[in-house]
Amino acid sequence: MLLSGRIPDHVAIIMDGNGRWAEMRGLPRIEGHKRGAERTREVIAAAMEVGVKTLTLYAFSLENWQRPGEEVSMLMRLIEFYLRKEFEESIRRGIVFKSIGEVWRLPENLQALLKEMEERSYRNKGMTLVMALSYGSRNEILRAVGKAISLGVVPEALTEDYFSSLLDTSGMAAPDLIIRTSGEKRISNFLLWQAAYSEFYFTDALWPDFTREEFFVALHDYQLRERRFGTVHSRAET
Ligand code: IPE
Ligand code: IPE
Ligand code: MG
Repeated sequence: MLLSGRIPDHVAIIMDGNGRWAEMRGLPRIEGHKRGAERTREVIAAAMEVGVKTLTLYAFSLENWQRPGEEVSMLMRLIEFYLRKEFEESIRRGIVFKSIGEVWRLPENLQALLKEMEERSYRNKGMTLVMALSYGSRNEILRAVGKAISLGVVPEALTEDYFSSLLDTSGMAAPDLIIRTSGEKRISNFLLWQAAYSEFYFTDALWPDFTREEFFVALHDYQLRERRFGTVHSRAET
């Protein structure tokens, strides 16, 4: 697989299909989430390898809180376990951690861990890893509107750049490529504002089957695209 071409600066992934992966095998859904976590590790390493600057992973949506309590609590434990396990090594590899979403709704241990990860990694110089946890884009936009109102922002001051700075993704470039696994072709309340000019890649692979090779196939597909941003000629990209 040739990956010498243009690498997207920011890749965002809707990691979907864990439950179906497990159900197809007669296993409890949590087994799919465990296998999915292993893939996450593999894809993070692959993204670093090819020079992706920011990788955003949609791990738990605001709507996912409505799942059966047992699945939610097992997922929370799994996310914490996985992050704890990978934390030190990731810091050594230069990763900068960030999280987006209503993190204050997460279990306290997980919140504390995310805070520690952000504090201990913000001086790092490597890839930025953004975890979308308890995240919903409409909610993010509404919270940003709320901030603007409470800051007393006048309409003329409300530019796109300023509004972007009020979102959880403040300071991050918009995603160049959004990948969704599991065959679903929808955005499920992910980065609605930020995805205005993102390229989309959909694959039938379930997340636990989304290998590093599958990730490279997605990047290769992206490399073949022409991004026009509403203009007529291909815009030179860095
Ligand atoms: C994605 O897998 C992980 C989360 C949403 C937490 P799912 O759990 O949605 O798996 P499917 O879509 O039911 O197969
Ligand atoms: C989207 O997947 C959220 C995550 C991958 C975290 P869902 O499985 O929750 O989305 P829908 O319900 O299929 O739209
Ligand atoms: Mg799903």
